[in-house]
Amino acid sequence: MKYGRIVGWGKSVPSQVLTNFDLAQRVDTSDEWIVTRTGICRRHIAAEGETTATMSVAASRAALTQAGLVPQDLDLIILATTSPDLLLPPASSLVQDMLGARCGAFQLQAGCTGFVYGLAAAQGFISTGLHRNVLVIGAETISRNVDWNDRETCVLFGDGAGAVVVQACDEPTGVLSFVLGSDGSGAQHLHITLGAREMMTPEAIVRGDHLIRMNGREVFKFATRVMGQVAAEAIAQAGMSLSDIDLLIPHQANLRIIELAARHLGLPMDRVFVNIQEYGNTSAASIPIALVEAIEQGRCKDGDNLCLVGFGAGLTWAAAVVRWGVTDRPFAMSWFTPIAKARAQAEVTLRTAKTMASMQALTAQRAFKKRAGKAVEAAKSAASTALLPLYTRVDKRYTRDKRK
Ligand code: ACO
Repeated sequence: MKYGRIVGWGKSVPSQVLTNFDLAQRVDTSDEWIVTRTGICRRHIAAEGETTATMSVAASRAALTQAGLVPQDLDLIILATTSPDLLLPPASSLVQDMLGARCGAFQLQAGCTGFVYGLAAAQGFISTGLHRNVLVIGAETISRNVDWNDRETCVLFGDGAGAVVVQACDEPTGVLSFVLGSDGSGAQHLHITLGAREMMTPEAIVRGDHLIRMNGREVFKFATRVMGQVAAEAIAQAGMSLSDIDLLIPHQANLRIIELAARHLGLPMDRVFVNIQEYGNTSAASIPIALVEAIEQGRCKDGDNLCLVGFGAGLTWAAAVVRWGVTDRPFAMSWFTPIAKARAQAEVTLRTAKTMASMQALTAQRAFKKRAGKAVEAAKSAASTALLPLYTRVDKRYTRDKRK
């Protein structure tokens, strides 16, 4: 059996920041309330032109570079999101095209749990030997579905994207286990009504059917119950106990939910990764962004066991145990990476050169056609000038013969 190891990672977050103080200017809230009830200080909000697809592409490019791969090496792209650019086509295909990848791509919707579902799907494709390199992205521009007059939801959410490249390997490392869960009977606790159930009317927009509606208390209760439980299941399924887990990377929805889940598991907070203060809840992007930052901060070391755990709309929940590490790669990274990077660079140069060459050829062809067209016109005009006396003579003779 093959294992899916994470060999590349990247993130992209909008530069535009919205602080609690900014929010307090808009709705009846305060920095103190938001920090103490949620742990959030700031969130990043997409600017005009920034979308789920554009942020996915930026995060994916970083992940591919890290992996020493080019987009053409990908066998599959999985994009987890609840805020795709359009209802149709899927944002996954936009990302595939913008990257210049030549592989299948699909969009996955499982609320904030989407990225862990995507990781599980990637592991499925890899373990069966179907695919070698799978790109898994979690990305959101959820701020566009936020009701900025609803203080209970608008303080929570932010935008961003995180991506990983999962690659097939033979050693028991990478994604070691996963547990997925869903309970649609809780759908009403967190929803956006907009969809194909009814025709979209101007009245529906005025009603705000395109905006997130949430029963915060119910989601809170559900989250605190399920997070520790599903993490414990995934850890047991990997044949491990809690003491084997070096870092828990939870969905960043509310610091109190994270703390309660850690307490339920009996895990000290120094083995839990938290970055909610900076980004708020970025839904499906929250776990991959947190993973990337944990790596950047040196909190994931070779051989470490990570537990990724999430919950969200659906209601859904999921956890995965991932063994981190690149030391037992078939190729030592020290020489493999420069070669792969050089190859990636060469591919990009080649593709650019090909595009330039075909554009130049097209321009030359058009210029030639234009010149040829002019020459033909000139020849036609010269021929008709040359033939004019003959036509005139023939015409005169015809008229004379007719009179006779
Ligand atoms: N500022 C000030 N006061 C507020 C605010 C605010 N932003 N929001 C709510 N309040 C008020 C309420 O109106 C209420 O006032 P009342 O007592 O006079 O009625 C009071 O604060 C307490 O309200 P609670 O709902 O009990 O507050 P709570 O401590 O539960 O915090 C929160 C609310 C932050 C929404 C919490 O319930 C929560 O985090 N829930 C989970 C939400 C979540 O994780 N959602 C994402 C799911 S993932 C996905 O798929 C998108």
